[in-house]
Amino acid sequence: MSNSIFIEALSTAAFETNLHLEKLLPQTRQGKVASAMRYAVLNGGKRLRAFLSLQSGALFGASKIQSLQTASVIELIHAYSLVHDDMPAIDNDDLRRGKPTIHIKWDEATAILTGDGLQSLAYEVLAQEDTHPEAQIRISLISELAKSSGLLGMIGGQELDIEAGKLNKSLNIEETKNLQKLKTGALFGWSLQSGAILTNQDSTSISEFADALGLAFQIKDDILDVEGESDQTGKRLRKDSNAGKSTLVSQLGINESKKMAKSLYTQACDALAPYGQKADLLKSAALFAIERKS
Ligand code: IPE
Ligand code: IPE
Ligand code: MG
Ligand code: MG
Ligand code: MG
Repeated sequence: MSNSIFIEALSTAAFETNLHLEKLLPQTRQGKVASAMRYAVLNGGKRLRAFLSLQSGALFGASKIQSLQTASVIELIHAYSLVHDDMPAIDNDDLRRGKPTIHIKWDEATAILTGDGLQSLAYEVLAQEDTHPEAQIRISLISELAKSSGLLGMIGGQELDIEAGKLNKSLNIEETKNLQKLKTGALFGWSLQSGAILTNQDSTSISEFADALGLAFQIKDDILDVEGESDQTGKRLRKDSNAGKSTLVSQLGINESKKMAKSLYTQACDALAPYGQKADLLKSAALFAIERKS
């Protein structure tokens, strides 16, 4: 499949998800935190997790509205994780998606509440009947998202990441892979599982794909930190090594990291074999994850 077909599909997914998010988010007139929540979510972003959730819905046969709900929810959680990740106590970043971060544009209290508000909104949306008419399915989505974003998922990974940075403690390669799997892979995992949960189907193969994709995506993020362009990524770069962060790039070097990203891409494509041609766009997404400039 040509790259331009994927880029077109990603841009359509972003457009549709943004329209849906517009409706779910509070209105600016509701105050400062409401305005900051809109800014944190609607200020760009590749919408790759939304794309993966929509693709998962299409692959497993969920309805469009159901997939738009899950696609929007994962972007709300992702945006919350970024607002807090950028705060002085964590990565202390002043630029995100090419614009000032929430604690810079407003203040730290607003950034804390904005992240919290986005997280609550995500679960509120999942509990809506538009997500699925059956309460049991909604509970599964909620429960799996709580696991993926909580201590055994993204939050656990963030804790390891912060500790490793603080102590200047170098992790070994397996420990770093585990950190990345939690920090980044877990939310990719839920995005890709969402269609299977909505339609009550087995998610083993798609989860194998998600594991490889999540790791490849984070390795590329770490590579971009070293050799990317800030005007393309919209973030400050060369931060990981300055902060003494243990990444696969710091451990393996840039060339070996690129090789690992390529081999994870192959692994990801292999995991999609059971889905045949229906998964071609997901293969392109995996290639995008390792070749992107932003
Ligand atoms: C950035 O994610 C945070 C990581 C997990 C590396 P993205 O690179 O997907 O950020 P946006 O959503 O496109 O801004
Ligand atoms: C962030 O990882 C992962 C999250 C859970 C938010 P990074 O700290 O590497 O992401 P960037 O580089 O700030 O986007
Ligand atoms: Mg971080
Ligand atoms: Mg960061
Ligand atoms: Mg990074």
